[in-house]
Amino acid sequence: MQIEAVKAAYRRYSGIYDAVFGPVLQPGRRALLNVLDLKPGDRVLEVGVGTGISLPLYPRHVRITGIDVSREMLEKARARVARRKLENVEALLEMDAENMAFPDASFDKVVAMYVVSVVAQPARLLEELHRVCKADGEIFIVNHFQSENRFIGAVEKALAGFSSQLGFRPDFALREVLPADQRAEVSRVNLFQKVVRLRNGVSHKL
Ligand SMILES: C[S@@+](CC[C@H](N)C(=O)[O-])C[C@H]1O[C@@H](n2cnc3c(N)ncnc32)[C@H](O)[C@@H]1O
Repeated sequence: MQIEAVKAAYRRYSGIYDAVFGPVLQPGRRALLNVLDLKPGDRVLEVGVGTGISLPLYPRHVRITGIDVSREMLEKARARVARRKLENVEALLEMDAENMAFPDASFDKVVAMYVVSVVAQPARLLEELHRVCKADGEIFIVNHFQSENRFIGAVEKALAGFSSQLGFRPDFALREVLPADQRAEVSRVNLFQKVVRLRNGVSHKL
């Protein structure tokens, strides 16, 4: 999806996002938080933070920065942080995750929840996630990935023509963020969603 289409889609979604995508995606957000293995003082970056629906799930002893390209989604996130008094959220910034302003090795953990199938260039996003993550840090992705079931996969392919309207690619394949030669832990949330855990300092060609 091109960035202007993303912005337009999430401008439309912002008012109803939590009602439509809140509960249905919450098991995946929780599953990711369960494997984050956070230590006191860790700096966490969440890209595509959206309305900040995941922010109350983080422990109070970590420092979180969230970024998103959608001003309207970020406004919701800022309101949530104020309402819930989430003092561990250090910053919510309007920024493109494919071209971040952070220096190299800024964060201990880098998180992308339901974003890899939305951005224009997933490979470029992955490069940036690795760049801003510390050498001994980790990257965590949760997403809907194209089904291995032939019937569901065919439905997802048919829906792919509507990606701009949907605001995500329903036929996004795991191999687009995880080439065959890259070592990672992949765990299943349910029939459609998986959590991918990548160690940053580990060579892509182990
Ligand atoms: C499906 S929503 C996920 C929101 C949230 N992470 C959640 O768990 O519900 C995708 C979000 O990614 C944002 N996004 C898409 N492309 C982006 C980019 N290149 N940089 C930063 N955010 C982006 C969208 O604006 C939207 O808020």
